[in-house]
Amino acid sequence: MNKASVLSCENLTKFFKDGQRKIQIFEALNFSIAAGETAAIMGASGSGKSTLLHLLGGLDIPNAGEITIQNKKLSKLSNKQRGKLRNQHLGFVYQFHHLLPEFSALENVMMPLLIGNMPKREARKKAQAILEQVGLADRVTHRPAQLSGGERQRTAIARAMVTRPACILADEPTGNLDENTAAAVMELFIQLKEQYNTALILVTHDQKVANQMNNQYLLKQGVLIKSSPN
Ligand SMILES: Nc1ncnc2c1ncn2[C@@H]1O[C@H](COP(=O)(O)OP(=O)(O)O)[C@@H](O)[C@H]1O
Ligand SMILES: [Mg+2]
Repeated sequence: MNKASVLSCENLTKFFKDGQRKIQIFEALNFSIAAGETAAIMGASGSGKSTLLHLLGGLDIPNAGEITIQNKKLSKLSNKQRGKLRNQHLGFVYQFHHLLPEFSALENVMMPLLIGNMPKREARKKAQAILEQVGLADRVTHRPAQLSGGERQRTAIARAMVTRPACILADEPTGNLDENTAAAVMELFIQLKEQYNTALILVTHDQKVANQMNNQYLLKQGVLIKSSPN
């Protein structure tokens, strides 16, 4: 029996218009992930991996098809409701950390909780706890510029995890890190997903990273092919 999916898409179609020209990214694409599962999405540059993650995360709207997150159909939600669903159930990690430069690590990690209307004291406590868990207890007052690349990415992961999302969407999260730092960041992802049963969808060019996921997919010419169940 299939495990209940936390995030899925059905017949997802996306194209961009370039003047008169229609650039088809994919057509009728299907994907699904259950709690605690991990999936690597690989594919050549320009194959549409980031576009797919944006759509799955409700950051962009498909031309056709449906995305379902925690049993809610995105097409049925208003922009505001979609934003709320994202804040409650999803976490995002990018190749470049996207931390706010003028805020400390602690403040950056508190942000999604404050956006979700959690009282400041409670948000601070939770942010502090997750930063300790990712090994940054003595870096909480540092600003992003005062952190190393690996520390920034750990902070970004803490920010993505602090709301205990059902699913993390990570777009080349180790793409900008050296091999050892990348391995440590992957270890952290795996450890957190084991602990919280989070689903993880991770775009990567690195076969070693992909090998650590339960399933591997290849996005090629608009088709998502399951290339290896490990
Ligand atoms: N907003 C946009 N408008 C027009 N074309 C876009 C837009 N976003 C992405 N594309 C095009 O869609 C294709 C897939 O892009 P992307 O999803 O970023 O690929 P990947 O992440 O796999 O490298 C590329 O050809 C890119 O130029
Ligand atoms: Mg990309």
